Amino acid sequence: MNIAMTMSKPDLRHHLSSEVLSRKENPMKVVQRLSMRNSNMISLANGDPHFSLYPIRKVKFEVAPVSDEVEDPFMSWQNPNSPSISFSSSRSDISSKSLSSESIPLNAALQYHGGTGSDVFVHAMEELTNYYHNPPNHKCLNTLGNMDGIVKCFRLLANPGDNILADEFAFGPPTNAALSQGINWVPVRIDKGGLIPSDLEKVLSDWDEETKGRKPRVLYTVPCGQNPTGCTLNLQRRKEIYAIACKYDLVIIEDDPYYFLQYSDSDGDAVPSNLMPSFVSMDTEGRVIRVESCSKTIAPGMRLGWVVCSPMFYEHMLHLVESSAQFSHGFGQIFLSEMILGPQGWGVLGFDRWVQSLRKEYQRRRDHFQVIFDHEVASTGYASAEAPEAGMFLWIRIHLDEHPRFKLLPSRTADSKNGLIQGVPTIYGRKTNFLELMDEFFENCLNAGVVLTPSSVFALPYESSLFNTDDPLEDRINYVRATFAGPYETMEPGLKIVGQVLRDFFSSNE
Ligand SMILES: Cc1ncc(COP(=O)(O)O)c(C=O)c1O
Repeated sequence: MNIAMTMSKPDLRHHLSSEVLSRKENPMKVVQRLSMRNSNMISLANGDPHFSLYPIRKVKFEVAPVSDEVEDPFMSWQNPNSPSISFSSSRSDISSKSLSSESIPLNAALQYHGGTGSDVFVHAMEELTNYYHNPPNHKCLNTLGNMDGIVKCFRLLANPGDNILADEFAFGPPTNAALSQGINWVPVRIDKGGLIPSDLEKVLSDWDEETKGRKPRVLYTVPCGQNPTGCTLNLQRRKEIYAIACKYDLVIIEDDPYYFLQYSDSDGDAVPSNLMPSFVSMDTEGRVIRVESCSKTIAPGMRLGWVVCSPMFYEHMLHLVESSAQFSHGFGQIFLSEMILGPQGWGVLGFDRWVQSLRKEYQRRRDHFQVIFDHEVASTGYASAEAPEAGMFLWIRIHLDEHPRFKLLPSRTADSKNGLIQGVPTIYGRKTNFLELMDEFFENCLNAGVVLTPSSVFALPYESSLFNTDDPLEDRINYVRATFAGPYETMEPGLKIVGQVLRDFFSSNE
């Protein structure tokens, strides 16, 4: 990878958690690595079952063709009789490192190997990472998808009692996972353009360690098609946020599963030049850990992804994975390796053709959904939403301040029942009865046969003492998230119900 820009890198070892610092390298893997010192080494060391002992000889995958002759790979793939391409991987004695015209042998992928994944798989991850991000001196480490990658980052970087910054509305599973590790969340304001750099800087510059504890040293953020709000950071904000990270010594966890679902109204094709540069692509200081996933480009059940990070973070994460899950399953690894590197596979350029075509389909779905939304829901006057620039979600504002039973609460009491975010009581208080109205609206939707995700599920479960603002999150939870990733057939009936529920709800005075 691009190593030209690594000259004046800060030492970021002080970011490592006590768990990581006390962990020893897996001694079996140390011996395994020593066995690679010499290619003629006879290994009598590890209990690695020889591949002749596996009851598997071959795996075969049938996938969409993506060559230039296929005008729109996604569209032609929708026809069940369309041609497909197949690649297979078989047991073989050929070394996994020799990427000849033969397909990649199954042996290595199904064997025990280092925590980073098999050699060919590492090569495949690097090819993709270099093509899209070309990060300065980073390494790739295999994961089971982004959720797994993020939790590994938390374990790498945080001690109980640490404070971590995040978008004020964030994907719930990781923020939830951090709570049991004793991590406190510190919300940063977002608007239509995503995380607001000036708010991030304010939180950090105003931080008083005497009253609030350790200053946050990690930012967890979703830069494209943010889940749930759908917003995307523009280049200027990305640069500002990275500069703030350098100034305040933050590590950025870049969770970017919607990177490939960035929409372009100009119908431009040139990926990656059409895509917003990632944080990791500008990471001259080694302070970005990017988590990558195949969930939105191939399939979520693949449970396959990787992290891209500096060699120092890589080394410590490797020790973590080698003493736990080790690596993701060999079938996923061989699939991606064959796909990117194998003689019959897509190659990086073919993968690029697929994701370009896929994002055009998502864009069609987004536009279709938006038209129906405007007709069935926005037309009621009780809700509104703007089409996102990326991702798969519409963030719908319910105009609760116009509801006949909307009220401003008389005083902001320190009542633990007053604010309930993801089931975690906050004691900061609030000014509106949005929580009750949203609960009622959600229940009405369920009763009418449609489910949307209420924004309270995503509101960061913050510690109130770390979030001193006159504008508490509980007064901004008048949103629901709707996805256009599902079947076309349910979009219209689902949104029709939402429109009707809104009309009934807003006409109910009691
Ligand atoms: C922002 C965000 N992060 C992580 C994930 C989980 O991804 P994965 O399936 O790779 O674990 C999702 C999935 O929806 C997501 O929206």
